[in-house]
Amino acid sequence: GGNICILAVETSCDETAAAVVKNGKTVLSNVISSQIELHTVYGGVVPELASRNHIEKINYVIAQALSDADIKVSEIDAVAVTCGPGLVGALLVGVAHAKAFAYALKKPLIGVHHIEGHIAANYIEHDIKPPFLCLVVSGGHTQLAAVKDYTDIEIIGKTCDDAAGEAFDKVARSIGLGYPGGPKIDAEAKKGDPYAIVFPKAKVAKSEYDFSFSGVKSAVLNYLNSVNMRGKAVNTADVAASFQKSVVEVLVEHTVKAAHDYGFKQAAMAGGVAANSLLRETMKKTCDENGIKLYYPSPVYCTDNAAMIGAAAYYDFLNGKRSGLDLNAFPALKL
Ligand code: KG4
Ligand code: ZN
Repeated sequence: GGNICILAVETSCDETAAAVVKNGKTVLSNVISSQIELHTVYGGVVPELASRNHIEKINYVIAQALSDADIKVSEIDAVAVTCGPGLVGALLVGVAHAKAFAYALKKPLIGVHHIEGHIAANYIEHDIKPPFLCLVVSGGHTQLAAVKDYTDIEIIGKTCDDAAGEAFDKVARSIGLGYPGGPKIDAEAKKGDPYAIVFPKAKVAKSEYDFSFSGVKSAVLNYLNSVNMRGKAVNTADVAASFQKSVVEVLVEHTVKAAHDYGFKQAAMAGGVAANSLLRETMKKTCDENGIKLYYPSPVYCTDNAAMIGAAAYYDFLNGKRSGLDLNAFPALKL
């Protein structure tokens, strides 16, 4: 068979992204227009502003992806787009543009699940093949996914309240580090003592593979209040380091326990929080000790991007999955 080139579009949250990916692996282009500055003053993503900004950027981003890839539109074999989950207005911009491209090029359209995309980011730089266990940790999701095959994924654990990235963002805001909080906490924690404050490691009674982060988030807020009430200064580096340690420990424990119980010899990580340096370091060390081979994408493929959507779509394409031109955006799409 020949090469399969997929034009992929991703607009589920606050990045307008397009990419061209060959055979699910070779990234010919990967354009990301971030809206971070637009949302920073509000301390988080404002959905209506996100939608409007996607509309302003999408044409340029797709054109740039095609020109960076140095490819003729006639060489595109399929158009892929994130159709959920995410912000409905944001998703609709990508879906509408991808449909128009597919229709104009007379090429198949493939709607991709955002999490399937995050997981597929691992195929870009590594030769990992299913089956494996994947810890998906982003601003909107915290899941343990059993990747039985490229297009056969089962969620075996998830968060009962906040997503891991959401907890990072909220704690960062409470100690004045700003948005997005994950990378800021990561950097601030390097200057602090992770043993300075003991924050609870939230356990969930229902399942040993599920997560809960609202407890540790509240513990941080209570701690900040009590320090303030005593008129003392908060050591933000110690708070960041202690909070990060508490979250990372739970993520690693549950992943390794699930890998062991389900008999996975390989594990992977995906999503924005997978860019966290302590998580990468601790997960690697613990997986090594337990005979599990660990993979994770470069930071640029951890946070939202369209190359990961192009990688996932390749396997959908081979599997014969096609979406109609009536494809919709599904804010709460299930895997
Ligand atoms: O995957 P992503 O770009 O978007 C979603 O699908 O949600 O993830 C964004 C999340 C944000 O909450 C951000 O704070 C977090 O990933 N994040 C990090 C780091 N880099 C990004 N969290 C911890 N440490 C990091 N280095
Ligand atoms: Zn994401």
